[in-house]
Amino acid sequence: MDISGKVAIVTGGAIRIGRAICESLASEGVAVVVHYGTSADSAAKTVAKINDAGGQAIAVKADLLDGKTSADKVFSAASNAFGAVDFLINNASIFESDRLADLDEETLERHLAINFKAPLWMSQRFASESFAAEPDDTNQTHVGHIIIILDWRALRPEPSFLSYSLAKSALASATETLAVDLAPNIRVNAIAPGAIVAPAGDEESHKQRIRETIPLKMSGTPGDIANAVLFLLKSDFITGEILRVSGGER
Ligand SMILES: NC(=O)c1ccc[n+]([C@@H]2O[C@H](COP(=O)([O-])OP(=O)(O)OC[C@H]3O[C@@H](n4cnc5c(N)ncnc54)[C@H](OP(=O)(O)O)[C@@H]3O)[C@@H](O)[C@H]2O)c1
Repeated sequence: MDISGKVAIVTGGAIRIGRAICESLASEGVAVVVHYGTSADSAAKTVAKINDAGGQAIAVKADLLDGKTSADKVFSAASNAFGAVDFLINNASIFESDRLADLDEETLERHLAINFKAPLWMSQRFASESFAAEPDDTNQTHVGHIIIILDWRALRPEPSFLSYSLAKSALASATETLAVDLAPNIRVNAIAPGAIVAPAGDEESHKQRIRETIPLKMSGTPGDIANAVLFLLKSDFITGEILRVSGGER
C-alpha cells in the first residue's frame, strides 16, 4: 500500500514513542491527528514541527477515561479536519507497578479503561465510521488498518506489573479477534516493544536490562517502533500478527 495521502489517528501522540510515530507517518505524506491527554505543549510542538516541514497535522485533547465519549471526540475532530480516517494507531497507555498482594480496584480499573477498553472504543468507532466497503476514487476497496502497541512483557507472566500486563494481554487477544472480525476491509496488527524509553525515574533498570537480558545489548528507540508501524501499514498481506521489537529480549 502507498500510504501517502492517507489519514491517521495516533493516540498518545504528543511525546516519546507516539510522537515518533506521528512524525514518521507525516514524513510519508500521511495527515496525522495527534491525540493527547495532558501534554498540550508537546502536542502543539509535534503539530508545528509536522506542519513546518510541509506535512499536515492537528492536535486533539481527549481523556481516554471518558470511554466512548473520547473516541467520538477524536473521530469528529479527525473527520472535520481531514475526512475519512485510514489508520488508527492505539499507542496511549499507562504503566504502573502492582502485584496481586496490593491489587486495588481503582488501579485495575484505570489500567483496563486506558490500556484495554479505550483501544476497543476507538476501534469500534473506526470500523463503524470509516469502512462501508465502498470503492474509493481509484476504484479500489478502501482498506483500513488498526495497529495496537502492546508490550512483549505482557505476552508472558509479569507478576510485578499485574494490572498493566493483564490489560495488555487482553489487548493482544483482541488483536487477533478483531483481525478476524474486521477482515477484509480492515487489517489489525500489533507491535510488542521491548526496552525503548525508560519510564521517568527508572533509567537504572533500563540500563540493567540492556546489560543482562537483551541479546543485542542495546536499547531500542522510538524510531524502531515507528519503522515497524510503517512496515505493517505497507504490508498488504499481514493481519492478526504481533510483531515483537525487543532486541531479542523475549
Ligand atoms: N517506553 C517503552 O520502552 C515501552 C516498552 C514497551 C511497551 N511500550 C508501549 O508503547 C506505547 C508508548 O509508550 P511510551 O512509553 O511512549 O508511553 P507513555 O509516555 O507512557 O504514554 C503515552 C501517552 O499515553 C497518554 N495517556 C495516558 N493516559 C491517558 C488518558 N487517560 N487520556 C489520554 N491519554 C492518555 C499520555 O498522553 P499525555 O501525555 O498527553 O497525557 C502519554 O503521553 C505504550 O502503549 C506502551 O505500553 C513502551
